[in-house]
Amino acid sequence: MEYYDYSDLLDNNRRWVDETLKRDPEYFAKLAEGQHPPFLYIGCSDSRKPLNTITQTRPGEVFIHRNVANQISLTDMNLLSVLEFAIESLKVKHVIVCGHYGCGGVTAAYRGTATGLVENWVTPIKDLALVHKDELNELSTEEDRLNRLSELNVLAQVRNLCKTSILHRAFARGDYPQLHGWIFAIRSGLIQEQQLPLGNWKELGLIPKDYPGS
Ligand code: CO
Repeated sequence: MEYYDYSDLLDNNRRWVDETLKRDPEYFAKLAEGQHPPFLYIGCSDSRKPLNTITQTRPGEVFIHRNVANQISLTDMNLLSVLEFAIESLKVKHVIVCGHYGCGGVTAAYRGTATGLVENWVTPIKDLALVHKDELNELSTEEDRLNRLSELNVLAQVRNLCKTSILHRAFARGDYPQLHGWIFAIRSGLIQEQQLPLGNWKELGLIPKDYPGS
């Protein structure tokens, strides 16, 4: 792994601006006019999954929020502000929660090794591991258990999205943003879509009965 010097970041930026303007002299003038991204992405802060790179999206195309282990906490003003702005002002069509295998937050929660504020932050994942203890214990290696816990974490966080007042208001308006759960597999570079138990969530009243999909 090659690390940059700090000054390289600014040099890279100037080179990128020069190259971009060579291709399109109006690029930044157009970008400055405003944003209409159709996607809200909520992912882990891990440096190995830069969304724009792994999905080949460009500036202006994805509204982004990231935190340790992609948590949707109903008391997190930062997350809730991003979600409200994305749904009500930007009117995004898709909300994506993306976790990843090899997530340090999930591992620390599972092993009980998190320290400092992160220990508090990942407590919901610790609780999730306890709820799914039997399923996880049937898996033969710790890596398999951590991978499954990462998947369960994504599903739990998409489920939490459905409990926010912001989505309740959207549903009441008949505005149904499409919800997605992703796992990014760092070893392959591939995004794996998780099957959301929409039928079950409809039965529980978490999403409207006429929400598309089952
Ligand atoms: Co992570």
